[in-house]
Amino acid sequence: MHRERMDRIRQMKHGRQVARPASREQTFSSVDSALSAVKTPPSMFEDHLQKSLADLDARHLRRSLRVSGLPTGPLVRFADRALHNFASNDYLGLAAHPEVIAAALEATRQFGAGTGASRLLTGTQTPHHDLEEKLASFKNTAAALVFANGYAASTGALQALAGKDDVVLLDKLSHACLVDGARLSGATLRPFHHNDTNHLEHHLRWAREKHPQARIFIVTESVFSMDGDTAPLRDIVELKDRHGAVLMLDEAHGTGVLGGGGRGLADQLGLSHRIEVQMGTLGKALGSSGGYIAGSRALIDFLLNRARGFIFSTAAPASTAAAASAALEICAGPEGDRRRARLRELAALFDQVPPAAIHPVIIGKEEDTLRASDQLAQLGFHVPAIRPPTVPQGTSRLRVSLSAAHDPDTVRTLAAALRAITNAPASDNPDTVCPVCGAALISEKCKVVCRSATCGYRIVFNCSEF
Ligand SMILES: Cc1ncc(COP(=O)(O)O)c(C=O)c1O
Repeated sequence: MHRERMDRIRQMKHGRQVARPASREQTFSSVDSALSAVKTPPSMFEDHLQKSLADLDARHLRRSLRVSGLPTGPLVRFADRALHNFASNDYLGLAAHPEVIAAALEATRQFGAGTGASRLLTGTQTPHHDLEEKLASFKNTAAALVFANGYAASTGALQALAGKDDVVLLDKLSHACLVDGARLSGATLRPFHHNDTNHLEHHLRWAREKHPQARIFIVTESVFSMDGDTAPLRDIVELKDRHGAVLMLDEAHGTGVLGGGGRGLADQLGLSHRIEVQMGTLGKALGSSGGYIAGSRALIDFLLNRARGFIFSTAAPASTAAAASAALEICAGPEGDRRRARLRELAALFDQVPPAAIHPVIIGKEEDTLRASDQLAQLGFHVPAIRPPTVPQGTSRLRVSLSAAHDPDTVRTLAAALRAITNAPASDNPDTVCPVCGAALISEKCKVVCRSATCGYRIVFNCSEF
């Protein structure tokens, strides 16, 4: 009776008669042959991949890698053509700083190219230990823990800290690693409108009412990666305290740029001691790679025991930790202050209030954004087109990322080109000078022209359809 039922099930599953196995050996061979009838042949798998790629192509969402043989800095070189690099988050220009490179080389000599295992297995080499001490003192916290990258730090921390009975309230424009960490935690996830503290408060009340036993986490960024704006941190901290929640702040784009010595927005507003989980990366203004969580000793000991991205991953090489330590010293000292001052001067060349190192130019459609990016490349600027899923649908943009290593004249010319692309009102900002004759450059609809009657320098964009 049971065997007949199994036969019927097999028949339904495969849509055809499947012979009933007679013995154990035959069971395996007949399952194998049944599987071979239904499993996806390799060519179908390839077809699926090709179709997905063609779909991305059709929607102007396909991405690809381009090879550049230059060090991280103000230039990239694609296909033998050097372009001014406005894509990197090396805000202070420390990735190629001689002291940072020397620290990485020395650590490689002393400790080897790789770490061989998770630090929980092999022990912590001194560069990682020193970096964690320095980070804790830089962030003014009791302790810090370094992960292989910022993505692992965020996902590892959130997944470990929140559980399925908890609630995570997340700014809608939060970086993917925060969203992924919140999802991995299994907690109830509620996004709040970007930087909207009324909406956040509404969610806090809802969470307290519907999940009275839950721990509530608020997650946001200090400087938003694709918009360059800052979180209303004072209000968020007030709300967090009033509702008894925990705040995790991602300072990936605030570290090195804001606050005394580049300590971030929390430091700038004097709020560091009121934020439970402070996250940042070493791969942006600190010119190396890695990510960190800073906070109480208990927080760091807990993460050391529970953050899967830390426990189950080979530690980053000593060279990256040593490079980050060297960069941290420069960042917190007078040279860091000089570099931040230079960054602010460059940011002021754009019509953005307040000036910021990240300058988005929202174009809207993917194909238009790609075209604008290509036109800028023809003029010698690498300004990537940022498209969904990195930004919401309909808000594709050019994202200009400034660095203290940029040269002001190049930034002025780019600012004029962007004004022309976006059809901003004609501007004769005397700061924007012609790279050929030094006369004023004027941005007009779809073009930038030199004011000198004899020079003739002009940049014309094919942007009437934007
Ligand atoms: C806001 C934010 N958080 C975290 C990360 C991840 O940091 P990392 O690049 O070190 O993995 C990024 C990287 O782009 C980011 O923009």
